[in-house]
Amino acid sequence: MKSANNRNFISIKDISREDIENIIELSRRYKEINGPLIDTKRIELSKKKIASLFFEESTRTRVSFETAARNLGMEVNGFSGVEGTSVKKGEPLVDTGKMFSGYGYDAIIVRHNLAGASRFLSDHLSIPIINAGDGSSGHPSQTLLDLYTISEAFGSLDGLHVALVGDLRYGRTVHSLLQAAELFNMKITLYSPPGLSMAEWRIEDYERATGKQVVVASDLTDVLEHADVLYVTRIQRERFALGPEGEAEFKKHQGRYRINRELLESSAKKNLIVLHPLPRDKNCIEIHPDVDSTPYARYFHQAQNGLYVRMAILTTILKQGFEGRQYPNRIQSPSWVDLPVANGNKKGEKLVYRLDEGTLIDHLEVNQAPRIYNLLGLDKFGTSDHSEIVLCMNIRSQKFSRKDVVAIHKVKLSPEQMYKVALLAPEHTINIIKENRVVQKQKAKLPSPLRAIITCANPICVSRKEHNEYAPSVFYVEKHDPLEVRCHYCEQTLTREHIELDC
Ligand code: CP
Repeated sequence: MKSANNRNFISIKDISREDIENIIELSRRYKEINGPLIDTKRIELSKKKIASLFFEESTRTRVSFETAARNLGMEVNGFSGVEGTSVKKGEPLVDTGKMFSGYGYDAIIVRHNLAGASRFLSDHLSIPIINAGDGSSGHPSQTLLDLYTISEAFGSLDGLHVALVGDLRYGRTVHSLLQAAELFNMKITLYSPPGLSMAEWRIEDYERATGKQVVVASDLTDVLEHADVLYVTRIQRERFALGPEGEAEFKKHQGRYRINRELLESSAKKNLIVLHPLPRDKNCIEIHPDVDSTPYARYFHQAQNGLYVRMAILTTILKQGFEGRQYPNRIQSPSWVDLPVANGNKKGEKLVYRLDEGTLIDHLEVNQAPRIYNLLGLDKFGTSDHSEIVLCMNIRSQKFSRKDVVAIHKVKLSPEQMYKVALLAPEHTINIIKENRVVQKQKAKLPSPLRAIITCANPICVSRKEHNEYAPSVFYVEKHDPLEVRCHYCEQTLTREHIELDC
């Protein structure tokens, strides 16, 4: 079944194993031709115009995509870095994208420093968007050329032991590669300097999808002895803050691992291949140039393969699209559930909470009432008479030993306010009171997606307000108990204790 995203290529999670195999096969055919096409495909695709928008630096991805498009007879325009563009004047990302769409471009290739930038763009434009790297989130076209290079070397992607080495925290290429490994029978080992390890949620994604555990290694020699593929990444200065603090943090990690010929010859399997997305950093070279001339080194082939793989990606997207796959675990749930009204006539409510008409938020944990009060903006209600809102704290409860309660005179909560209560206080009950009677008892159940309610915890997520891109936060509920939600843009998951709410 084709998913709605089949003409975009934003994340490896958008495509299926079959899509990957088709790209590998088409790339192989393009590599055989090795150059501009002169067959009917070219005529069909030559009418296409491609926008190449690189907000962030690139050599390989930009040049290979642009060359790939030209080899297919397409027209290419765009920018490499924002200097000289209206982005320098503060233009929002979506406005820039809309211009290219409006000028008749058929697809946009976008590299951006914000995670989820390409997903956000694809939400607003009807032409295909190709993610050429978004912050430290993902780099799916890189993954396809990595997989092509591995399959070229071993004839298969199954049954291999792949070791990911280096900056696994900020390295977007290893994030996408791990997502792709979910679709193949691979053994995965991770090796990184302290402080740059793979995020737990990414490991959990892989382990849940495959039922297999990754190995987190502490000894590089041991990794080399068992791996078929050694995938090395650079420590990226650009992922640390500007200024002296970021520089000091970067320097702390710089040069913490180094692969050289001697190490490989003494420890590695004879048929090991060494991959690297490139560029290497000459100031703390992670793969010594003495490896370049050994049979282990495949990183230049890998980069060259990018041309054929990107020809295959452009062809697929502009012709039939990907087969696609659905994200697993996305729960569609009711907005709230009605509970039985056990005692319709709560005589005590008026006396205790001074509430004859309104909403009683019951069963809050002790000390939660002031937080709920602030979060729901209750200070803005009944400003002339604050007695209309009553917070009762640390009172006796039949259900729990102690609880907080918020009683709001005359006011019914909006759905968004109910979801906020549900996010903070899973045990809550909302009582609607009319003429001194509880007429309805409800428990808000989170709908999916949750829009503009949760703030993403990822500081470089495009949805964060400080980036001024006006991307409303969107989270999918993947588990209710214990709660787990996933950001639509940067794909990071959050559990209840890490959730910060939009105010
Ligand atoms: N591998 C990669 O993305 O390289 P560039 O940054 O040069 O595009």
